[in-house]
Amino acid sequence: MSTYTEDRRKVTTRRLAEMKQRNEKIAMLTAYDYSMAKLIDEAGVDAILVGDSASNVMAGNVTTLPMTLDQMIYHATSVVKGVSRALVVCDMPFGTYQGNSKLALESAIRIMKESGAEAVKLEGGSEIRESIERILCAGIPVMGHLGLTPQSINKFGTYAVRAKEEAEAEKLIADAKMLEEIGCFAIVLEKIPATLAKRVSEQLTIPTIGIGAGGGTDGQVLVMHDMLGINKGFSPRFLRRYADLSTVINDAVAHYVDDVKTSDFPNASEQY
Ligand code: KIV
Repeated sequence: MSTYTEDRRKVTTRRLAEMKQRNEKIAMLTAYDYSMAKLIDEAGVDAILVGDSASNVMAGNVTTLPMTLDQMIYHATSVVKGVSRALVVCDMPFGTYQGNSKLALESAIRIMKESGAEAVKLEGGSEIRESIERILCAGIPVMGHLGLTPQSINKFGTYAVRAKEEAEAEKLIADAKMLEEIGCFAIVLEKIPATLAKRVSEQLTIPTIGIGAGGGTDGQVLVMHDMLGINKGFSPRFLRRYADLSTVINDAVAHYVDDVKTSDFPNASEQY
């Protein structure tokens, strides 16, 4: 049982900054629907990411690229309804911000207006600076995302650890500093060496949230379906499974099927 469930004050971008200042780690998870968002909010997560990983775990796609703005808004709207404490951040999907800052602003405004999410997340550094700046100008909080950025999987050609080489690591550090300078409130660091993530986190005043980036970041994020063991086909080294829900669900459904087939369900007290 978490000891962090008693403080029910709303988490804001400002409170995340304060958490970094007092060395309190930030716990973030993804969610895509009302019921699960309500459960994980009640359990004490500080931030909920409506990730475009919905493409993988909700829609069954191989990559995050097919996700549309309408689909992200649908998921974020459902999540917002279930959350009373955590900060809700919505991913901007592929094709809604890259190379076109006017489109980026329009997309971010649609997310904020239609879903009620409190911030947006964009993948990339200097390449998307103009888009991020334009969104920030509208008063919309932006979370950056560096390292393994899954929307660029076709450029990378692999989901392997990023920034192991000096040149890529230096660019990542420069991008992280730039994101802080222009006004991002936090940065996700995905699948990079732990030493690099720690170095970046120490050099920034805004919080870093790691996934596969070691323990030196200011917070952690995991995809909910992976950490709950719903999605068992994905087992990277960085993933810790906190439950085996696929077995729980499978057993429960098999039991139900058996009860129906044998006319055990419903019994006399389960009917009118
Ligand atoms: O879409 C997502 O779930 C993410 C996290 C893995 C950080 O971007």
